[in-house]
Amino acid sequence: MRTASMRILIFGATGRTGRELVSQALRRGQNVSSFVRSPGKLTVVDTRLRVVQGDIQRAESIHAAVPEHDAVLSALGPRVQPAALTNVPLTESYRVRVRNCRGRLLPTISRADVAHFILEELENPRHIRQVVPLCY
Ligand SMILES: NC(=O)c1ccc[n+]([C@@H]2O[C@H](COP(=O)([O-])OP(=O)(O)OC[C@H]3O[C@@H](n4cnc5c(N)ncnc54)[C@H](OP(=O)(O)O)[C@@H]3O)[C@@H](O)[C@H]2O)c1
Repeated sequence: MRTASMRILIFGATGRTGRELVSQALRRGQNVSSFVRSPGKLTVVDTRLRVVQGDIQRAESIHAAVPEHDAVLSALGPRVQPAALTNVPLTESYRVRVRNCRGRLLPTISRADVAHFILEELENPRHIRQVVPLCY
């Protein structure tokens, strides 16, 4: 089930996963605010895309950016739950919510599919307050 259009703030929007989040969210009809420290790095132009310049380490940047959004997505952070990130194209076919990715020497997941999972979860929440490793 697709929800009505949301206003989404994305931290780390210039990163490799962040760029996937931005482009896939726009394709899904969402309105996106990209929180970036270097707007020149953002190559996407879209009428539903707004650029917010700021530094995630400065609280005032975040306080100014968050209001008037329905959701905040982050592609920042420590070496989070995804397996080794790759740049292979979107597959929309991956394993979710396994304890770990046994049976693989080096589990992988593409940035495109991480972005896909995040946006699916946003529109149709199934794993609230759960840690969910993803891999193929
Ligand atoms: N690479 C892997 O194999 C791997 C594996 C597991 C987990 N992860 C984690 O998955 C996440 C995404 O990975 P990725 O490869 O997509 O990362 P990435 O390409 O390095 O992107 C990182 C993003 O964070 C932004 N950023 C960092 N410090 C910032 C600050 N102070 N203020 C504003 N923005 C800031 C960067 O902005 P700039 O463009 O301005 O630098 C960039 O947009 C990361 O948390 C990473 O640790 C990665």
